[in-house]
Amino acid sequence: MNILGIETSCDETSAAIVSADEHGAGIILSNLVFSQLEEHAVFGGVVPEVAARAHMETLDTLIKGALQEADLGFADLDGIAATAGPGLIGGVMVGLMTGKAIAAAHDLPFMAVNHLEGHALTPRLTDDLQFPYLLLLVSGGHTQILVAEGVGQYKRWGTTLDDAAGECFDKSAKLMGLPYPGGPHLQDIASECTDIPAAQKRFALPLPMKGRAGCDFSFSGLKTAVRNHVQSLPAGDLQRKDIADLAASMQSAMAAITRDRTANAMQQFIRDYPGAKRSFVVSGGVAANTAIRAALTDLCATHDFTFHAPPIHLCGDNAAMIGWAGLERLKLGLTDAMDAPARPRWPLDENAPKRHGAGVKA
Ligand code: KG4
Ligand code: ZN
Repeated sequence: MNILGIETSCDETSAAIVSADEHGAGIILSNLVFSQLEEHAVFGGVVPEVAARAHMETLDTLIKGALQEADLGFADLDGIAATAGPGLIGGVMVGLMTGKAIAAAHDLPFMAVNHLEGHALTPRLTDDLQFPYLLLLVSGGHTQILVAEGVGQYKRWGTTLDDAAGECFDKSAKLMGLPYPGGPHLQDIASECTDIPAAQKRFALPLPMKGRAGCDFSFSGLKTAVRNHVQSLPAGDLQRKDIADLAASMQSAMAAITRDRTANAMQQFIRDYPGAKRSFVVSGGVAANTAIRAALTDLCATHDFTFHAPPIHLCGDNAAMIGWAGLERLKLGLTDAMDAPARPRWPLDENAPKRHGAGVKA
């Protein structure tokens, strides 16, 4: 079963062909990702209109390239899967319409995929993981703790009440004068810090929500504290050593927060799913962060969970995860009609209670 996946929800244009072997294990035949770094770098962040135009200019070539690399033609495809949300609506519409057009032209089943489900199911593509599993989804737009009970079946236990984790990394990095996109740059410079405990003392930071019941997150207080530290440094060019220390302290705070919130979720999972295998997944762009991965790996050992995270190149946005989610849906007969809408907001758990203050991030 060969599926063409298309991803255009933010600033990565991507096309991929995924398949599954006779045992159902995932195979990525191609996965081309064009990051619109240069387009957005001058603005210091993603500009929706610029992103939509860039998707339109590159998607066609990427689809051709993905087919070529997989050594397949349209006639060899069994279905088309495109991200239908959540995300920047202009970009989503480019990918969604392209996917529908190819499906219509070649009379193929079409799957309108939730981008978050793409991140959520990636460990089933790479690790052949069974449901249910506990999932921490940390990206530029979302920070949620969910239980994945099945394809299309999620229970959301926690969400951020303000910024997303990736957003906090990106905004903090910008305050430190680091280039866009901030997360990876902040991690790089933090690795130059030689004494993390000293850096944490020098640049003490709050750990919002730590120690509270439940699995919700909050990051805006942390970002504000980073701003205050930057402003307290001598005016003029920030010294590299100062930034390395502040970045290391910030990254350690992020790791401590995610560890604390996830620990609560693990206890709840053990209570609510008594006989289930204890599996934990971290996915989304921020799952690439080595300090966060290390803290969560350690937490898993403490609570007897197996740790799963996509390889780094599948943490960020890519079309292989969309193709895989489409493949899983097609196997269950979950196809979509040509009137499937583009959805700027699309929660994985439509029944999750609204959180006060969570706004669009819920
Ligand atoms: O999942 P993703 O590629 O796009 C969204 O769906 O949002 O996540 C992008 C986010 C950005 O905020 C980026 O800075 C962050 O993931 N990120 C990282 C790292 N690599 C990417 N944050 C911290 N450390 C990293 N190594
Ligand atoms: Zn994403």
